[in-house]
Amino acid sequence: MQPLARSVALLLLCPLAAALPGARGGRGRFWHLTDLHWDPGYEAAAAAGRPCPSGSGRAGPAGPWGSHLCDAPWALLRSAARTMRDILHTPDFVLWTGDDTPHVPNEQLGEEKVLHIIANLTSLIKETFPGTKVYAAMGNHDFHPKNQFPGKQHRIYNQTAELWRPWLSDASLPLFRAGAFYSEKLPSPGTRGRIVVLNTNLYYDQNDETAAEEDPGGQFQWLEETLTNASRANEMVYIVGHIPPGFFEKKRGRAWFRRGFNERYLSIVQEHHRVIAAQFFGHHHTDSFRMFYSHTGSPINVMFLAPGVTPWKTTLPGVHNGANNPGIRVVDYDRDTLQVLDMVTYYLNLTRANRMASQWEAEEFPLWEAEYRLTEAFQVPDGSVRSMQMVLERISGDPHSLQSYYEFNSAKYDLARCERECRVDHVCAIREVDFTKYDECVKTSSAASAATSVWLLVFCVFLGLLSPQRVP
Ligand SMILES: *[C@@H]1O[C@H](CO)[C@@H](O)[C@H](O)[C@H]1NC(C)=O
Ligand SMILES: *[C@@H]1O[C@H](CO)[C@@H](O)[C@H](O)[C@H]1NC(C)=O
Ligand SMILES: *[C@@H]1O[C@H](CO)[C@@H](O)[C@H](O)[C@H]1NC(C)=O
Ligand SMILES: *[C@@H]1O[C@H](CO)[C@@H](O)[C@H](O)[C@H]1NC(C)=O
Ligand SMILES: [Zn+2]
Ligand SMILES: [Zn+2]
Repeated sequence: MQPLARSVALLLLCPLAAALPGARGGRGRFWHLTDLHWDPGYEAAAAAGRPCPSGSGRAGPAGPWGSHLCDAPWALLRSAARTMRDILHTPDFVLWTGDDTPHVPNEQLGEEKVLHIIANLTSLIKETFPGTKVYAAMGNHDFHPKNQFPGKQHRIYNQTAELWRPWLSDASLPLFRAGAFYSEKLPSPGTRGRIVVLNTNLYYDQNDETAAEEDPGGQFQWLEETLTNASRANEMVYIVGHIPPGFFEKKRGRAWFRRGFNERYLSIVQEHHRVIAAQFFGHHHTDSFRMFYSHTGSPINVMFLAPGVTPWKTTLPGVHNGANNPGIRVVDYDRDTLQVLDMVTYYLNLTRANRMASQWEAEEFPLWEAEYRLTEAFQVPDGSVRSMQMVLERISGDPHSLQSYYEFNSAKYDLARCERECRVDHVCAIREVDFTKYDECVKTSSAASAATSVWLLVFCVFLGLLSPQRVP
């Protein structure tokens, strides 16, 4: 694309990203970036006509900006970084929720290679946002062997802490070395905000290191104390992490946490929800959210799941067409209360970018577009718990809202209709983080939608019988 065309295109994005009312320091913005999954072997493989290393042998077109069967080539990550700089180069801070390495077997990685990849992406983010505070969380792929995070000190924690040292306070450093979690007060003067970064890889059911432990790393106890202290200090908190509790909305019944860990997490949120302004997680590579309820069923908290930068189609059995377009997100928030005011998600139509690549000059980068603004797309005043409950009710009750949500879920990669079973999968995953309640939700919703289908069928047959000109 020509520079002029690019400027015009960026200008068109401006109304979505430009400064908003509340100029007395009330309204701030930050980036949420997740699941970059760099595949350093992509370019060489593409040049040699081989499938990318992260493609699990699946062959397919390998475009210059990436492929839906593969993790991200360097060019895609560079273009994401450059786009973020162009849209909002001085955010208040950046949330970076992990997963940097490609989906390849452990044997093709090793500790040194994993750390090299984390180091490289850390540099990319530092260069993109010099002087900006970044709150980084480790993803389950940011370890060797992957997923095997211990609840005690480890070389890899030490090395990662060194890489992230410019972003960590002196108090966070020893905590990070001991378990890769930490908490910091937001830097803006006068703010009541605090960020709590968790290492929820400790709760992953694929993690053999912590399987037998009750509170790996003492993280739950630390979290409770941290939230209690925050409440005493009149602070408001964002909880940030990689693997979320609850269920994967693209595969029925697939949760990540072990049951006991899921319960403990939920009960902490129920106990301390008043100081938790919102939660930000990754790992799914899809755009979704999770609601949390009190014992009496009132909505008390919300977790936002941001789409990944990698377009990689999951190999998880049972997921149909589980790729996504690369996505990145700006969150508007109230600097005092940390209330989420709005969110704009940007995406790259990877198919189109690759198709147009041949028309561009070498240094040009593809155009990321604003995908949607939360308040406009779902007609809600903000991103509060109450508003997100309204969004859930719209998605659950109105097929048009469900379809919009569904297209955003994969950053407009999968534009198929979301009906019946799809609706149950998404609505129950959003509504029920609790294992038992999720099962009930799936059971009753499926029964309800099956009953509806039966009645529809009966109705149609009835209409058919009434119809005088039946065509055989
Ligand atoms: C990261 O890797 C890319 C692609 O190989 C390279 O161009 C870049 O210089 C590396 N950055 C650092 C800081 O090593
Ligand atoms: C991690 O770093 C700390 C402080 O430098 C050191 O005391 C500790 O031995 C290191 N741990 C490991 C496992 O390397
Ligand atoms: C909570 O506050 C107490 C008292 O100031 C302090 O001793 C403790 O270390 C704090 N806990 C955490 C996890 O920050
Ligand atoms: C992405 O680009 C492809 C190829 O140009 C096009 O067919 C598709 O409709 C586009 N998707 C969206 C959501 O615009
Ligand atoms: Zn990931
Ligand atoms: Zn992950």
